[in-house]
Amino acid sequence: MPNSRIPVISLDGPTASGKGTVAHRVAERLGFHYLDSGALYRLTALSALRLRTPLNDEHALARLAEGLNCSFSEEEVFLAGENVTQAIRAEEVGNTASRIATLPTVRQGLVALQLRFRAPPGLVADGRDMGTVVFPHAQLKVFLTASVETRAERRYKQLIGKGFSANMDDLLKDLTERDARDANRSVAPLKPADGAYMLDTSDMTADEAVEQVLGWYASARKNG
Ligand code: CDP
Repeated sequence: MPNSRIPVISLDGPTASGKGTVAHRVAERLGFHYLDSGALYRLTALSALRLRTPLNDEHALARLAEGLNCSFSEEEVFLAGENVTQAIRAEEVGNTASRIATLPTVRQGLVALQLRFRAPPGLVADGRDMGTVVFPHAQLKVFLTASVETRAERRYKQLIGKGFSANMDDLLKDLTERDARDANRSVAPLKPADGAYMLDTSDMTADEAVEQVLGWYASARKNG
């Protein structure tokens, strides 16, 4: 199958909007591959923190991004063979990821890696710029949102569930800052792609959101 014919569903949205869960389940239901592009930014951030790469050294960071030696299996993420599934979820890593994601050379450094995830029978790509930059011809584009309070609550439960400590006020402040950084950066700012369906999941369960995305995809296939 030529690469351009391999279907892609892009799911973009702000931090803790539920994208990860929804994207994962949609991929499972369709038997598609799943790209967690945020994990690539987190892996780059983790490498930088470990190597003490200065966060203003754009070129060194870009080299780290381009040369990421990572692999994914089921729910696990590996960096140079080490299981870093837990390590990349720490808030410090998330915050660093969000900072280095503002650097154009870092973003560019991760493009080739992201494109490689497009493989038969299809891909569900989760991130901030999947529909706008990386897969602009995706068959279905969805932009997920949820109120900042809902997202902070979700993130709180997620962190506690993973054994990290968390504080609601810090999380709210952190989410608001991250939203601002994602939306205001000059390269690939977070915004709905042209033709994206908007999905506000504040009052929805993950299953309801999954059904909605699958419904849109079924219609897109019929019409496309
Ligand atoms: O868990 P959370 O939604 O906060 O973040 P993530 O999806 O794991 O991504 C970590 C960071 O990478 C985000 O805060 C974004 O700033 C950045 N990112 C990005 O710029 N572009 C993407 N396609 C994915 C993530």
